[in-house]
Amino acid sequence: MEDLIYLDNSATAFPKPKEVYDFMFEYYKTHGVSPGRAGYDMCLAAEETVYSTRKMLTEFFNGDDPNRLTFSYNASDSLNMIIEGILSKGDHVITSNLEHNSVLRPLYHKLHDGVIDVTYIPFDKKGYINPDDVKKAFRKNTKMVILNHASNVVGTVQPIAEVGKHCRKAGILFAIDASQSAGIVKIDMQAMNIDMIAFTGHKCLMGPTGIGGLCVADHVDIKASRYGGTGVRSAHKFHLDEFPYRLECGTQNIVGIAGLYAGQKWLREKGIEKIHEQEISLWDKLRKELQNIDKVTTYCADSRDNHISVLSFNIKGIEASEVGTMLDVDHNIACRTGLQCAPLVHEQLGTDKIHGTVRFGIGPFNTEQHIDAAIAAVKEIASLSKN
Ligand SMILES: Cc1ncc(COP(=O)(O)O)c(C=O)c1O
Repeated sequence: MEDLIYLDNSATAFPKPKEVYDFMFEYYKTHGVSPGRAGYDMCLAAEETVYSTRKMLTEFFNGDDPNRLTFSYNASDSLNMIIEGILSKGDHVITSNLEHNSVLRPLYHKLHDGVIDVTYIPFDKKGYINPDDVKKAFRKNTKMVILNHASNVVGTVQPIAEVGKHCRKAGILFAIDASQSAGIVKIDMQAMNIDMIAFTGHKCLMGPTGIGGLCVADHVDIKASRYGGTGVRSAHKFHLDEFPYRLECGTQNIVGIAGLYAGQKWLREKGIEKIHEQEISLWDKLRKELQNIDKVTTYCADSRDNHISVLSFNIKGIEASEVGTMLDVDHNIACRTGLQCAPLVHEQLGTDKIHGTVRFGIGPFNTEQHIDAAIAAVKEIASLSKN
């Protein structure tokens, strides 16, 4: 375990900064009570951290109101809340072939039940959506565009500001899946005309698993899709309408929120541009070296511009899963293989026919030595191919 080269940061960032682990541990020991449920000092202090975290993340996304930054389990949970809370019978929604199953599946359930109609926008050869294609797909009953910001398969960062402009002009809601981008790519809700952001805590935001959230602009009327305890106005028969309660119920994940709080502090101290620069430089070296290996094909990895440090590739003649096993067993390198929960990306690339790709995801704690080892390992594995 100690010598493991971890290149599966797109699944979850590992390790997390020491400051995050330490803060979470200390915080739970000293403030591990149910925030916002009572008036004793520890409870008030816990609630204060929850609110400070809402505030920091709202600033981070340039949102409107910290109370409209609500916490959830993860991005999948937030995306379900968006889809359930916005769409109703007869609505049309536009999405893309780049989406993760956490967008595709909730939409598909509604499509299958005859509730909504869905348009899937393909990406171009380089892995980007053309904002004009989105605009051309607008219909009278289009309620929302929901788009992947940064692909977890090919790493391309979509032109969301342009899409946002088209949506705002047409009066269509615009939601983004920022699972792979929040914490590494700048997101400005106001400047980019984004109405809703779904984020997860355990990737670039450097928090733990089990915490995520939703940032909702002031003008968006999103329905609650789950109901329960809020700790206030307990005699009220209906779930509370005001934010943050509208989208939150039950006891908060205080340790998770503490992790997000410490993650925010760490990101602010380091600067996301600097972290991105470090990661994308490693990515650039990796993709160029892999592209020089005979029998290796990389996907949508032409330039470091508008890209995050995710690289998908295949070796001709060896199944992706087999490459993954060799990387793990023979080289102690952790990565992900297969369809990476984004089947339409592979359908469009044609890689669904060969059971997907091998994916490397570079994180802030990867080094040049890790990348050199990965390059050497892929070279060695490619040399075993008989094709
Ligand atoms: C693009 C994208 N969307 C959504 C998700 C779902 O995130 P979570 O598993 O934290 O809900 C992921 C996670 O891999 C992702 O990469």
